[in-house]
Amino acid sequence: MELATAQPPVAAADSTGRPPALVVLDVRAVDVYYGQAQVLFGLSLQVRRGQVVAVIGANGAGKSTVLNLVMGRLRAATGGVTLNGETIAQASTAQIVSGGVACVPQRRRIFPTLTVLENLEVGGYVRRKDKAGMARTLDEVYALFPVLKSKSPMLGGVLSGGEQQMLAIGRGLMSSPSLLLLDEPSMGISPKLTTGLFTDIRRIADTGRTVMLVEQNAYAALGIADHGYVLENGRVALEGPARQLMHDDYVRQTYLGA
Ligand SMILES: Nc1ncnc2c1ncn2[C@@H]1O[C@H](COP(=O)(O)OP(=O)(O)O)[C@@H](O)[C@H]1O
Ligand SMILES: [Mg+2]
Repeated sequence: MELATAQPPVAAADSTGRPPALVVLDVRAVDVYYGQAQVLFGLSLQVRRGQVVAVIGANGAGKSTVLNLVMGRLRAATGGVTLNGETIAQASTAQIVSGGVACVPQRRRIFPTLTVLENLEVGGYVRRKDKAGMARTLDEVYALFPVLKSKSPMLGGVLSGGEQQMLAIGRGLMSSPSLLLLDEPSMGISPKLTTGLFTDIRRIADTGRTVMLVEQNAYAALGIADHGYVLENGRVALEGPARQLMHDDYVRQTYLGA
């Protein structure tokens, strides 16, 4: 299967007359089960090019399940998933990765006994023959996270928690993904470091990439996102522009401690 040649769907113009950005990821009315237990219920969401989309929800809401579905680790019983206009409902994880999706899993699993640079090189494995492209992306990662450049010969395991999260994200970027998925990047990181990390995640999109992140930290996620989805018990309870969700009374009371 050749995902790279897919034609993205052409979106209709919005009220400004400017066409909205192309849809990179389209999840349509999916039901997902673990065995007999249904975990996602008619779930739909879209991610457009250049956006940061935040999927927020409590522990157990189904956030990681959404990412596992997109990565082809789980199949939808009903509904569909398209990437750049082409269905990936039956694609293998390897095909989805080759098609331009990278996922940074929960709890930043880096290789502690490899150096920082080696960790990043592992992330670029799918394009290992493209040395020039890899070098350019390495520069991009170092520009985003200068501490990784200064610590490039050090072992991943000696980095701080925040630095390891930067390394995990940098490793995800090394495949030059058209869609970067992040599973709870704030987990285990101090509130102070979280603010900086999320500013960096915003910069990833501002330099032309597309990001979908799932988070329990609604405040940090909506603060940098363009669009948000609130996930409750495997259903989209609410969606909208991130700024609008942040000021929504229900979201504030339920997720923002207001
Ligand atoms: N491998 C699994 N087998 C059975 N149930 C699972 C499995 N993984 C997750 N679940 C259940 O699916 C629901 C959603 O889990 P998950 O997507 O991990 O939530 P979140 O990432 O939002 O915390 C939870 O009720 C969880 O217990
Ligand atoms: Mg999870």
